[in-house]
Amino acid sequence: MRVVSGIQPTGGLHLGNLLGAILRWVRMQDEAECLFFLADLHALTVDLDPAELHSNVREMAAALIASGIDPAKSVLFRQSAVPAHSELCWILNGTARMGWLNRMTQWKDKAGKNREGASVALFDYPVLQAADILLYRATHVPVGEDQKQHVELTRDIAIKFNNDFATELFVVPEPFIGGGTTARIMSLRDGKVKMSKSDPSEMSRIHLTDSDDEISQKVRKAKTDPEPLPDNAEALEARPEAKNLVGIYSAVTGESIDRILARFAGQGFGAFKPALADILVALIAPIRGRLDELRREPAELDRILAAGAARAQELGAPVLAGAKAAVGLG
Ligand code: TYM
Repeated sequence: MRVVSGIQPTGGLHLGNLLGAILRWVRMQDEAECLFFLADLHALTVDLDPAELHSNVREMAAALIASGIDPAKSVLFRQSAVPAHSELCWILNGTARMGWLNRMTQWKDKAGKNREGASVALFDYPVLQAADILLYRATHVPVGEDQKQHVELTRDIAIKFNNDFATELFVVPEPFIGGGTTARIMSLRDGKVKMSKSDPSEMSRIHLTDSDDEISQKVRKAKTDPEPLPDNAEALEARPEAKNLVGIYSAVTGESIDRILARFAGQGFGAFKPALADILVALIAPIRGRLDELRREPAELDRILAAGAARAQELGAPVLAGAKAAVGLG
């Protein structure tokens, strides 16, 4: 079992990243060899501020370590420090088909009506993601629901490459999505869109850097409906905001939706929201404390990332060499 996953170093870590991906990364560290990276090359697909990208890499590395990623157990690095990602991406561009990329919902969403004005990198983004995964022969890729389609595309690329070049070089990876609601944390302002760093409203998401008061306030102001909580999970289906809040509670505590509802059934959000705020503060406050400490040690963060990149380079080199040989390069 080899685990690989990444996160873009844009904006701070939010509750969606934490519950959808990072806390699962943390748990997998004891079960498998893990590689986690800051996808700074992926961040180049949209307009960005270079100085911000530079400082965000360290900030995101600190946030991952504060959340429980242990550099002694996992390989932690920045994607651009390992050139093999870009090199393999170019080789896989020969295998990926325009039609496959045209079907990616993230491309359609992000490019919107302005396809002609979108960067080529935004279109090619999933091929770089495939390179990230295939370079390390990953078996499991823990991601949130929104990234599942990209992992499925990675499987298609791996299968076609192996067939076209009569090789068994690439391992066909599995997307690893947490069960139930964990995989999809929605905005606190609209239960139909995912919690995202690109949402203009700060009230839509909870950051790891939010104070206890900010967390409580965001939960208190989260959109809901006037009905009391039901006594079964099915009754939440038509109530996206209520479903999201109960789902967050379940993802944080590990309790089943049914057990949570058994306790809160018949009560309004006036009772549920303070309980939710309490468990979120208990989750986030210690992470925020560790993050504050880590920020004061930029040299140590750089050392961790450099050591991680050296190890990743070592692990990826034979696969890149195999891909070059398979297509007749080198
Ligand atoms: P990114 O940076 O957008 O998000 C990082 C991880 O957080 C998950 N996530 C969510 N999960 C549940 N609910 C949400 N609201 C939510 N928002 C984000 C994402 O699914 C992801 O797991 N392309 C990737 C980064 C990447 C990658 C890779 C991932 C680059 N190469 C290779 C896996 C393997 C991205 O932009 O994730």
